[in-house]
Amino acid sequence: MAKKASSSSESTKGESGGQKRPFVWARKDLLGMDELSAEEIVHVLDTAESFREVSTRSIKKVPALRGKVVALMFFEDSTRTRMSFELAASRLSADTMIFTSKGSSVAKGETTLDTVRNVKAMGVDVFVIRHSQPGAPHMVSRKVDASIINAGDGAHEHPTQALLDIFTLRQRLGGVAGRRVAIVGDIAHSRVARSNILGLRKLGAEVVVVGPPTMVPSAITAMGCQISHSLDDVLGEVDAINMLRIQFERFGGNLFPSLREYSKVYGLNSQRLARCRKDVLVMHPGPINRGVEITSHVADGPNSCILQQVTNGLAIRMAVLYLVTQAGEPEIRNSKTK
Ligand code: CP
Repeated sequence: MAKKASSSSESTKGESGGQKRPFVWARKDLLGMDELSAEEIVHVLDTAESFREVSTRSIKKVPALRGKVVALMFFEDSTRTRMSFELAASRLSADTMIFTSKGSSVAKGETTLDTVRNVKAMGVDVFVIRHSQPGAPHMVSRKVDASIINAGDGAHEHPTQALLDIFTLRQRLGGVAGRRVAIVGDIAHSRVARSNILGLRKLGAEVVVVGPPTMVPSAITAMGCQISHSLDDVLGEVDAINMLRIQFERFGGNLFPSLREYSKVYGLNSQRLARCRKDVLVMHPGPINRGVEITSHVADGPNSCILQQVTNGLAIRMAVLYLVTQAGEPEIRNSKTK
């Protein structure tokens, strides 16, 4: 890293003015936002801030993970997450192996655990796992002696997406505490919504989830967010709007009359954007269904930070790979980041 992270979590001064122990990351896995404290979230964001500079150099590499092997295990489709983890591992000088279930021996009946154990036998230090089954990375972490990073497990969690979303909000708004964020769409089937709510609430943001009653479980208020079934009602009161894709792959039946009807009531278009604060941030985790949850005019317009989210995903994933491999190794932490 070019400079030391400027996290308050790394401060050595206590509130009373005395010396405080420096923050040391202790997790070998990243399974969800649920398990992270506010201090840990800030530490990831600050570490990512330091790694962002690496991508501006002519030689975009640091030796932080030299000698380590990172296996990208994608049992479910991905573009952004898989490619940014691959580039992140490469920028940290790790060796990478990429598994996608399509074309693999999963088609012959090999289980998730057998697949991971066989790849581990080739000498893997970190597994990045995406899976359609909620809890799959957690199950692997109990059975396999390596670092496990959850790259999205069913409708459960997508912690690195939430971290890059919060990183982007912090970058654009100067902080998230006291800010109001709307998350709009298929909340019930969205791991992005769950992880964002958990992370944003821990950092003191207000969250309102918006969607039709069939897509917004009332129990979600237990996570500390509010519910609205009217997008028009919340437009003028939020600092950011995170639009979600309808997760057609996660439910069988119809949850709304038609796509046209859904788009009319819950789609973000130019007319609705005009009723938002002038500098409202428009976010989307991707992939976008243009013309359904968001129009091209809004997705590609000046309020959109959708591609900035993707750019920030690289720094966040470098930070997460780095932190899980350095857990418990402070002397390596300090010597390998130059
Ligand atoms: N946001 C996200 O997870 O995108 P991918 O499915 O392309 O990885």
